Amino acid sequence: MTNHTGPIIRSYDPKQTLARASTIPAAWYVDQGVFDREKTAVFGRSWLAVGRCDQVCKTGDYFTSNVAGEPIVVIRGSDGTLRAFFNVCRHHAAEVATESSGCASTLRCPYHGWTYDLDGSLKATPDFAGVEGFEKNDHGLVPIRVDTWSNFVWVCFDADAPGLPEFLGAIVERVAPLELSTLRFHVRTEYEIECNWKVFVDNYLDGGYHVPHIHKGLGSVLSYQNYTIENCERFCVQSTPVQSGGGDVETAAVRGGDMAYYYWLYPNFMLNWYEGYLDTNLAWPIGVNRTKVVFDFYFAENNDATQAHLRQSVAVAERVQQEDIDICESVQRGLGSRAYNTGRLAVRREGGEHLFHRLLYADLI
Ligand code: FES
Ligand SMILES: [Fe+2]
Repeated sequence: MTNHTGPIIRSYDPKQTLARASTIPAAWYVDQGVFDREKTAVFGRSWLAVGRCDQVCKTGDYFTSNVAGEPIVVIRGSDGTLRAFFNVCRHHAAEVATESSGCASTLRCPYHGWTYDLDGSLKATPDFAGVEGFEKNDHGLVPIRVDTWSNFVWVCFDADAPGLPEFLGAIVERVAPLELSTLRFHVRTEYEIECNWKVFVDNYLDGGYHVPHIHKGLGSVLSYQNYTIENCERFCVQSTPVQSGGGDVETAAVRGGDMAYYYWLYPNFMLNWYEGYLDTNLAWPIGVNRTKVVFDFYFAENNDATQAHLRQSVAVAERVQQEDIDICESVQRGLGSRAYNTGRLAVRREGGEHLFHRLLYADLI
């Protein structure tokens, strides 16, 4: 930790009750030292959802991602095993796989043609004769821990961290009734937002507080008064009844059922479920005030006859997301102001943020 980062982290008091707590200080959202520390202490330790199982069904199927600054590739081997590697060539560090996804028989680096097998071992090093003390066997792609749960592929950079089941804890049984495996992936959308990744998560975790103000359309089909917020060890569940009839017509047409469930899992994974519908959100830090958010949409009825309905459903989510982007960018500008340091939390609404901030503190200190 750099000299000035320690005092910034320690200026948050994680022992306060929700009724007495303040938010994490503004410096946590604008300071480069905090951002750098998060890369190792948060994203370097947690299990992270990096993609979908349906992207890596067959031998050679792969996808790439940039996980808090680390290029990675996840690939299905010819032995059927799913593996993850740092997507960094052992020669001069170029990214070996250059597409966001695909199917490959080998991984060939575009820079000088070094070629790796699907199991990461180095197979070919063109024009490399005469190099002394060099063992191909010692120059395979560097592996990363990988596991799957539900529809999602997870990685963890920390060799000593507990396994994925322990990290997930009770969320597995809590989510089971939603039967996510019956839903089929439809489309991915991505956004880059001018805010710190924690602003996006905070906004997600305010217990519906902003919904009547920021999301008039969505808010018209949800029951603000009956919103519930439940903190568990490393995740928060928000839920609200869905009101049928009335409200915004476009939203009501695509957000049905009785209940909406919003799950957040530390640090950056969110599941938004309505009957027959799921979108997942991943918030990836790019810079202190820049975040990439990846949405994957799934539906129970995903066939030719339903495509128009699915497009309308995604369009409603995109409108909500744009409303969130606008307010998150506004918050980021405010966090950079000399007028603001910390704020208080609504006891009825903002318990999820309190959990998030305390988990962050535990990792960062
Ligand atoms: S950097 Fe990959 S072959 Fe040179
Ligand atoms: Fe929102």
